[in-house]
Amino acid sequence: MTTDLQQKIREAIQNPSNLGEMEGADAVGTVGSADCGEMLRMWVKFRDENGTKVIDRASFQSFGCETAIAIASLATELIRGKTPEEALLLRGTELAAELGPLPPMKIHCAELVEGALRSALGATSESARAAFAAPGQVSGQVPSLIDSMGPALNSSRGSGVKVILLKK
Ligand code: FES
Repeated sequence: MTTDLQQKIREAIQNPSNLGEMEGADAVGTVGSADCGEMLRMWVKFRDENGTKVIDRASFQSFGCETAIAIASLATELIRGKTPEEALLLRGTELAAELGPLPPMKIHCAELVEGALRSALGATSESARAAFAAPGQVSGQVPSLIDSMGPALNSSRGSGVKVILLKK
């Protein structure tokens, strides 16, 4: 990874935007990466704008790497005011565009964010299909992300896997 990219990721995760569960969300989507075991959940709230349904705001939680957290932070800002259809056109690399080009080993981090967004918006994509997803579910009807991680956490005991929870 380039120093410039590392710096941008560091800046983005120092004060991530829209981190945490969203009360009263209209939809929530969750994906997990088969590549690295990271998980990301995204909540979306819609509003009506002159008769058109647009994304009012989005938030996320992640058991992910710093890159995924940085991209999710950027993505939740980028999709504000877009229709679901417009948001679904955005590929992972576009969601991460502000960070600049990602190295090949970090492309799946952007795909994880794309997958969570697609899951929340009820669409399917290769990245979402490759992961478990709960499309269109309303916040409060899904287990917390840490509960979802339970089996993985239990199976990781003694494997040296360390889980760090970010504070809101
Ligand atoms: Fe897997 Fe970033 S390394 S999501």
